[in-house]
Amino acid sequence: MATQTQTIPITSQQDRPTIETKLGSRSAPKSDDSLKDVKAFDVTPVIGREYPEADLKEWLGSPKADQLIKDLAITISQRGVVFFRKQDGLTNDLQKKLVQRLGELSETPKESGLHIGPVSNSGRTLGGRDDEISVISSEQAKKLYKNRIFGGTKQSRKEGWHGDITFEHVPSDYAILRLAELPETGGDTFGERGNPENVGSELTAVHPVVRTNPVSGWKSIFAVGHHAKRINEVAEPESEHLLKWFTQLIVENHDLQVRYKWQNPNDVAIWDNRSVFHTATYDYDGVRTGQRAVSIGEKTYLDPNSTSRREALGTVAT
Ligand SMILES: [Fe+2]
Repeated sequence: MATQTQTIPITSQQDRPTIETKLGSRSAPKSDDSLKDVKAFDVTPVIGREYPEADLKEWLGSPKADQLIKDLAITISQRGVVFFRKQDGLTNDLQKKLVQRLGELSETPKESGLHIGPVSNSGRTLGGRDDEISVISSEQAKKLYKNRIFGGTKQSRKEGWHGDITFEHVPSDYAILRLAELPETGGDTFGERGNPENVGSELTAVHPVVRTNPVSGWKSIFAVGHHAKRINEVAEPESEHLLKWFTQLIVENHDLQVRYKWQNPNDVAIWDNRSVFHTATYDYDGVRTGQRAVSIGEKTYLDPNSTSRREALGTVAT
C-alpha cells in the first residue's frame, strides 16, 4: 500500500519509561457478523482484505451502519488494512465521519477525535482547506522530502516504512487514504490535535516498544519507522541495533506485506496504525494525490496478558 506522512524529527524523552503497562484494558469489541455476506477476499493469507463491490457511502447511510462500521473496525484491526474500489460518493466529510465512527464504535476514548496536523495541511502549498484532511501529494513530497525520498543514489527504500503520527502522545488508531483530485490552498495551526494531550510544538512522545491493540487484543512491535528515534533504558548501540532489526523484520518478510495497486480515482485504503506500517512506492510517472483522514486512538500501552496474532490464531506453537 502506498502513502506518505509529513516528517518531523522526534526524539524520545530519556527520563520516562519506554514500556508502560496498563492492566485492565478495555475488552475487545464483539463482532455482529454483519459483513459475512459482503463480497470480500483476503489479499494475502496474513494481511489485507478487499471489498471489491462495497459502497462505503451506502454503509454510512444504512440502518445497520453502526454494526457494519464496528465490524469493519474489527476487520481492519485483525487484517491490518482493507481496500475499497471507486468510492465516488465518499466526500471529505463522509471520509472524516467514517474514520471517526471506526474509532467510536470500537470504543476509542471519548476525548479522541480527528487528528489535525501540527504543520497544518492548509498551510502547505498543495494542501487543502480542511486541517482534518491531509493531502498526500506526489508533487508536495518532491518538494518536502526531495533528498530523503528522491535522492538518486539510494539503494534502499526501507526508511519509508512508518506508522502515522507516532510523534503524538496519543497516536492514531485508524487512517483512511483515498486517491483523489488536487485541492486548493489555505493557513497554519498549533492547536489541539485530536486529543487534549496532543498539544504544543514539541513533537515528542514516548511509547511502548511492544503495544497491545485493544480491538484485536493482540500485541505487536510498535517501535518501527523513521519516527522511532531511540529505545530508552538500553545503550545507544543496542537501541540502534534493535530499531534496525524491527525494520528488517518488515523489509525481509514479504509474506507479511501487501501491495495495493491504485486503479481508479476514489480507491480507498483503511489501515490500523496501531499494528501495521506502510510506505509509498515512487515507481510511477505523473502526479498522484490522495486525501487522508486520521483518527486518534487511545494512549499506547502493553497489556502483558495479550498474545501475538500468531499465538491467538494458533499459527505458532505457544
Ligand atoms: Fe503515512
